Amino acid sequence: MSAPATRTDYKVAPGGRLEGRLRVAGDKSISHRSVMLGALAEGVTHVNGLLEGEDVLCTLAAFRAMGVQAKGPEQGRLTIQGAGLHGLRPPAQPLDMGNSGTAMRLLAGILAGQSFDSVLIGDESLSKRPMKRVSEPLGQMGARIDTREGGRPPLRIHGRQTLRGIDYIMPVASAQVKSSLLLAGLYAQGDTVVTEPAPTRDHTERMLRGFGYTVRTDGKRIGVHGGGRLTACDIDVPADISSATFFLVGAAISPGSELMLEHVGINPTRIGVINILKLMGADLAIENARAAGGEPVADLRIRGSKLKGIRIPEDQVPLAIDEFPALFIAAACAQGETVLTGAHELRVKESDRIAVMAAGLKRLGIAAQETPDGIVIQGGTLSGGEVDSHGDHRIAMAFAMSALAATGPVTIRDCKNVATSFPDFVALAQRAGLAVEVINV
Ligand code: S3P
Repeated sequence: MSAPATRTDYKVAPGGRLEGRLRVAGDKSISHRSVMLGALAEGVTHVNGLLEGEDVLCTLAAFRAMGVQAKGPEQGRLTIQGAGLHGLRPPAQPLDMGNSGTAMRLLAGILAGQSFDSVLIGDESLSKRPMKRVSEPLGQMGARIDTREGGRPPLRIHGRQTLRGIDYIMPVASAQVKSSLLLAGLYAQGDTVVTEPAPTRDHTERMLRGFGYTVRTDGKRIGVHGGGRLTACDIDVPADISSATFFLVGAAISPGSELMLEHVGINPTRIGVINILKLMGADLAIENARAAGGEPVADLRIRGSKLKGIRIPEDQVPLAIDEFPALFIAAACAQGETVLTGAHELRVKESDRIAVMAAGLKRLGIAAQETPDGIVIQGGTLSGGEVDSHGDHRIAMAFAMSALAATGPVTIRDCKNVATSFPDFVALAQRAGLAVEVINV
């Protein structure tokens, strides 16, 4: 009998190009929020296009553990019987958020307002991530949340606290922090107002409005008044621009490629990758722009072209925060130098994405110099080689695409977590022309 597989690697043959039309997985941020707001609404919410990735399934499992009835997901369809803002029941066990920072931070805001105690736990990566950024301001609202030393998970959330709205100036541009506080604000007395240092994804605000809740925005200030209710609605989840990014970069770096990515969310707070790739000279067109369920969507057409190194504008960083692993691959294939600054947040994602990407790029023969809040990459020729994703889904997918421009095969270690955000990545990538093979070791 063979021992059970403990690690999944990808081996990708070099060269080739990407072609065809495809729709990538549903948007992770919007999927999480649709489960959360659907569970807290009054009435039945129908979700279409839900991402059936492990992160979102953790969120769904948590609400089921708190008594919420839901049918699915099946082929992206999920029906949620809302419990109402005050209808959740105490979970019998700690709620496991797996690899998902979004699930843990947003749920912390919701659970802070409940009449029962709860515990949020996560996997090895999540257990190292900073949670003070939510536990502190939630504490200022009156929540009682214990963390492990250094503000790390697990989070022990004490129920039956009276929450009061606060006026909070966020020290980091984080949609997770903003969303956590706004969700707690639904349970708070008075107004909860969050000021963000730079625009971050606004899916929570949009979806709250879709569920009939008033959200006031005034420039960088976003506020809710506690004590209202959410009314169930139908949600059409667009394809995730963060997942589309791997295909955008793969096509951009391989001459002769032409891909059409369908029904991609192009919310202005998420399109940093489009802006940055265009600055690098990518042949990228936005077609058939339209609205779907309160979010702008479009088809993205991309062709292979020569890219040039750039200095990435800092105002694009929060708008492309999850796209840098793939953008670093584009930079490695570009002519000249690419400089990223103002991106310290990348060090506290699913891995330290600056350190892990720099190490991988060096393994493939590219000069990549880390800085405290960014990286400097000299475009060149990628050799083949073996890189380690450190269990980070986006690092794994970014290096998988790098093989299109490499001179030898690229092996990526530890790719299991691709299932957290993009379970059918390999199948879609193969269909588009990437010679990727999955090896269980
Ligand atoms: C997310 C916000 C971002 C992003 C994450 C998803 C969200 O994190 O990196 O993948 O759904 O709100 P921060 O807001 O902490 O930057």
